[in-house]
Amino acid sequence: MIDFKTKYGPWAIIAGASEGLGAAFAEALAKRHLNLVLIARRSDKLEQLSHKLRDNYPIEIINHSIDLADFEQTKLFFSELSIDIGLLVYNAAYAPIGYFENIPEHDLDQIVNVNIKTPLLLTKLVSAKMIEMGKGGIVLMSSLAGSHGSPKIATYAASKAFNIILAEGLWNELKRHGIDVLASCAGAITTPGYTKAQNAKEAPGTLDAATVAEKTINALGKGPTTVPGTVNKVARFFMGRLFSRKFAISIMDKNTQKLS
Ligand SMILES: NC(=O)c1ccc[n+]([C@@H]2O[C@H](COP(=O)([O-])OP(=O)(O)OC[C@H]3O[C@@H](n4cnc5c(N)ncnc54)[C@H](OP(=O)(O)O)[C@@H]3O)[C@@H](O)[C@H]2O)c1
Repeated sequence: MIDFKTKYGPWAIIAGASEGLGAAFAEALAKRHLNLVLIARRSDKLEQLSHKLRDNYPIEIINHSIDLADFEQTKLFFSELSIDIGLLVYNAAYAPIGYFENIPEHDLDQIVNVNIKTPLLLTKLVSAKMIEMGKGGIVLMSSLAGSHGSPKIATYAASKAFNIILAEGLWNELKRHGIDVLASCAGAITTPGYTKAQNAKEAPGTLDAATVAEKTINALGKGPTTVPGTVNKVARFFMGRLFSRKFAISIMDKNTQKLS
């Protein structure tokens, strides 16, 4: 058994790392002694996080403020890095809430850029280097909402479906190069983004960010997708295998109505 750092190190890149689940991924990987490249727009948040991690773990950290909606910025930054990236965690997402007719075209474009275009092209960039190294890992953060149509977050959910299907295909293709690919289909997580959007009480099966990050990292190399948490696994089984698509969408509708 090779250890985690040998398989997925020496450097991990976390896209969308400044708070919430991304910060929890940073801590989970710091515990495993991987050096970190942390990306988000807010550099002050990245600085605070990296101070905390450097104080607690023997690792190096590079912070970089990028808008992941602009893939050219990401590509330029990546081309200037002269380190071996053994793990990509693509965590950032854009999730405007509202009925399709009320979502401006610009927001739809942002969803495509942040949730589809940049993870796709960044995966292409990092996997090329990983193929040369003959090892590595790629985690695409997805959602249970990506399993079926989800009213009020229809485009976000569709973008999360893209990530699941992409990860499943690449899981098969890239394993011959020693690269593990995983989509993590999370249910509700108590992150700042979720707390802002959720007006009512927590959904059943809600997990904290540290638990989701640990469960996701532990699932790497074990299959193409993971659903963190038992309640969420059961929910996915019922929604995906037992209920009709029509019924599953109506349940999502009830749940997403309280989002604003
Ligand atoms: N929270 C949930 O209930 C839940 C449930 C299922 C799945 N998920 C998935 O889990 C992931 C994390 O969710 P979250 O709730 O932690 O999200 P969040 O609170 O909105 O945080 C997202 C992170 O990504 C960064 N980010 C967002 N847009 C960016 C951009 N354009 N450029 C650079 N960085 C950007 C944010 O930092 P800056 O703002 O500093 O840029 C932040 O660090 C997402 O992929 C989401 O789809 C979440």
